[in-house]
Amino acid sequence: MSNQPRVLIVGHLGQVGVELQRSFSSFGEIICHDRDTVDIAAADQLRAMVRGAAPDVILNAAAYTAVDRAESEPDVAMAVNGAAPGILAEEALRASALLVHYSTDYIFDGSKITPWVETDKPNPLNVYGASKLAGEKAIQAVGGKYLIFRTSWVYGPHGNNFLLTMLRLAKERASLNIVDDQFGAPTTSISLADATRTIVAGVLAGSYGAADKWAGLYHLTCGGAVSWCGFAQAIFTRAEALLCGKHPAIHPIASSAYPTPAKRPRNSVLSNEKLSERLGLRMPSWETALDAVIARLANLDALPKQAEK
Ligand SMILES: NC(=O)c1ccc[n+]([C@@H]2O[C@H](COP(=O)([O-])OP(=O)(O)OC[C@H]3O[C@@H](n4cnc5c(N)ncnc54)[C@H](OP(=O)(O)O)[C@@H]3O)[C@@H](O)[C@H]2O)c1
Repeated sequence: MSNQPRVLIVGHLGQVGVELQRSFSSFGEIICHDRDTVDIAAADQLRAMVRGAAPDVILNAAAYTAVDRAESEPDVAMAVNGAAPGILAEEALRASALLVHYSTDYIFDGSKITPWVETDKPNPLNVYGASKLAGEKAIQAVGGKYLIFRTSWVYGPHGNNFLLTMLRLAKERASLNIVDDQFGAPTTSISLADATRTIVAGVLAGSYGAADKWAGLYHLTCGGAVSWCGFAQAIFTRAEALLCGKHPAIHPIASSAYPTPAKRPRNSVLSNEKLSERLGLRMPSWETALDAVIARLANLDALPKQAEK
């Protein structure tokens, strides 16, 4: 490998992809693809994309992330989230490249009381979770130099996410009903991308040793835990300047009062212990990470627009 690694970012227009571009901008040569240049559900296009890029590192941030819509489009979700990661792993192996892939807390059923660890048994409650679990298994079946990062409740300054939805609703409504019986760790696209860069740099520098010492599956989320309702409360308290003092009244509700096509786990909290023990990385608390996103938004002229999903 030259001094300048070739880094292929798949899904560079998504919320994590945008931050990966920022975080890896001075890392090496960056090659980006998203739906406008490749359909990752088409195996031939995916293989041609990787072979054309000849990467040292593949960062796969592309995914079918519409959790509720996946219930009525299981085949598309499975092609994008279940099959494509396996093909990327085969191509990574062929090119001796490192593959980084993201998975989700929704592979668990939420029944545990303590944080989930990597050895806990997955049992997805919805099609999205099942498709992401299939993607994990497809990569593991191929093996090679791979890192799967299971993360949760991703949001940031761009894309479709809870934070931007809350900031929009705060301007439109005087009160909001928010689910208060699902718990997780809100994780920013910024922290995820920066953690990915630190770990990839460590792998390429040989800091973690041979691949059998570091390759595998890790939980990677911001620290702590909160309910959606508590998260909304924290957003409105910390974003007062962005909202010009608007702070809607929040009414906590049960999940049963807000039925959705996809069921969601009650406890989504993932333990980062393996990450810190094996890779020496500590993630910021969700509150600290939220402050960083709000500070970033305060420097933008207007809140970014969200596409309908
Ligand atoms: N968002 C969360 O709360 C969350 C939680 C846990 C884990 N994760 C995981 O984290 C990773 C990044 O998520 P994210 O929130 O950044 O997702 P995102 O914002 O939805 O971005 C995903 C990107 O993939 C693209 N894409 C989807 N289908 C494609 C296809 N067939 N061909 C090419 N590109 C395609 C999307 O394009 P379009 O926009 O045009 O569809 C989008 O640009 C994913 O693996 C996700 O499963 C996310």
